[in-house]
Amino acid sequence: MAEELIVSNSIDKATKYRLLFSQLEHLIEPEADLISNLANTTAALKQTFGFFWVGFYLVKGEELVLGPFQGDLACTRIRKGKGVCGTAWALGQTQLVPDVDLFPGHIACSSLSRSEIVMPIRSPKAEVWGVLDVDSDRLDDFDEQDKHGLERIVQLLAQICFK
Ligand code: SME
Repeated sequence: MAEELIVSNSIDKATKYRLLFSQLEHLIEPEADLISNLANTTAALKQTFGFFWVGFYLVKGEELVLGPFQGDLACTRIRKGKGVCGTAWALGQTQLVPDVDLFPGHIACSSLSRSEIVMPIRSPKAEVWGVLDVDSDRLDDFDEQDKHGLERIVQLLAQICFK
């Protein structure tokens, strides 16, 4: 049965993340398939925040390979340490980029992308198995609330998908 996401535009960003997180717990917990959970997570993030581009890249060997996403066509493979995504993977740290033109080696899948946040996703054994990438067509569009809210969501995915 298709789920219905409750979205409100009359609440603050932190509350939006809390409301989304509690819905995602119920949405992805019963589903064992990783790709299905990633796909619904991108759809829920797009519906809740209207992100310009939101998607996952998954580690395959020495590359990140494009996974489920919402937005314009994107590059399919990124080598470790390259771009914002490859850097998040290599360093194992969230990359919060207020202006992509100032990020050395930024990979522009869209010329409209202006700011970006990328979170590594770790398995319970702490190895990175993918990243969540969110792009905005506005400069400096992400802050610590986005970092906290999105990191909680990728931790939830890691717990559920790597039980
Ligand atoms: N900008 C990313 C590449 C992925 S596209 O934004 C979807 C990067 O520099 O790694």
